[in-house]
Amino acid sequence: MDIRLDGKTALITGGSEGLGLAMAHKFSQSGANVALLARDASKLESAKQDIISSVKGSQVRVETFCCDVTDANQIQEVWKANSLLLGQVDILVNNAGAHAIGPFLETTDEMWQADLDLKLYAAIRFSRLAFPSMAEQKWGRIINVLAISGKSPGAGSAPTSVSRAAGMALTKVLAGEGAPNNILVNALLVGLIRSGQHERRHKRSAPEKTFDEYISPIEEQLPMGRIGEAEEFANMACFLVSDAASYITGCAINVDGGRSPVV
Ligand SMILES: NC(=O)c1ccc[n+]([C@@H]2O[C@H](COP(=O)([O-])OP(=O)(O)OC[C@H]3O[C@@H](n4cnc5c(N)ncnc54)[C@H](OP(=O)(O)O)[C@@H]3O)[C@@H](O)[C@H]2O)c1
Repeated sequence: MDIRLDGKTALITGGSEGLGLAMAHKFSQSGANVALLARDASKLESAKQDIISSVKGSQVRVETFCCDVTDANQIQEVWKANSLLLGQVDILVNNAGAHAIGPFLETTDEMWQADLDLKLYAAIRFSRLAFPSMAEQKWGRIINVLAISGKSPGAGSAPTSVSRAAGMALTKVLAGEGAPNNILVNALLVGLIRSGQHERRHKRSAPEKTFDEYISPIEEQLPMGRIGEAEEFANMACFLVSDAASYITGCAINVDGGRSPVV
């Protein structure tokens, strides 16, 4: 199957590293223009240069925008700025996020609100901006990047698991409302995939170990005996945003090497 995204523009939140950057690589290699959003300007610039060098010789465009997606005003401003540079967004990936789990009684109102702002409200706000032009052109794709804990929340998994469950409900609502206009909306539920967040956790908690030494006891607990690679995740995302996935909407698909107890 030849998956091409020529002529499409994708906006990826949290596009400067990890899964977001892997999707940006895959989409741009498939012919899409990409807009990457994150807070750290230097990481965005290095992501941009990395992508430009990997698609050298093609017409693909890469734009980056500093944006804290928890801030509704910044979302509005960046959306306008991107419209002027890359035109309308055909593919929206709500991916920005951060690890946030702890005991329920230690999770304050502020922590709940911060997690919902980052993982739920940002997706609501971007989807609200993306829907009208997608509906007008009768083509659109939205992916909400979530976590498998959204399907199987356990003790100590809040606030993330609750925000992710809400993200699954949002996915279903948007899929229903988007379907008549060929706007397809799906969620990808991550298990454990190598990215910046794991590297940072390794440096914080076990700097004396190599990454492999740090991760291997964790990998032993996983069904496939290894964590996933960001490219493996991006392959699935690229298929879902392409014409090849033209009858798939309203799904929450695990990308977890079989880790989730729930299908
Ligand atoms: N990798 C996994 O194993 C795993 C597991 C479960 C869920 N997930 C979810 O998958 C998504 C991608 O994760 P990842 O592992 O690729 O994480 P990552 O390597 O830590 O990358 C996170 C990205 O989000 C951006 N970001 C964070 N907060 C932001 C904010 N307030 N506004 C704008 N951008 C923000 C970061 O850039 P700045 O810091 O510069 O803003 C970065 O580009 C996240 O939603 C994460 O929760 C991942």
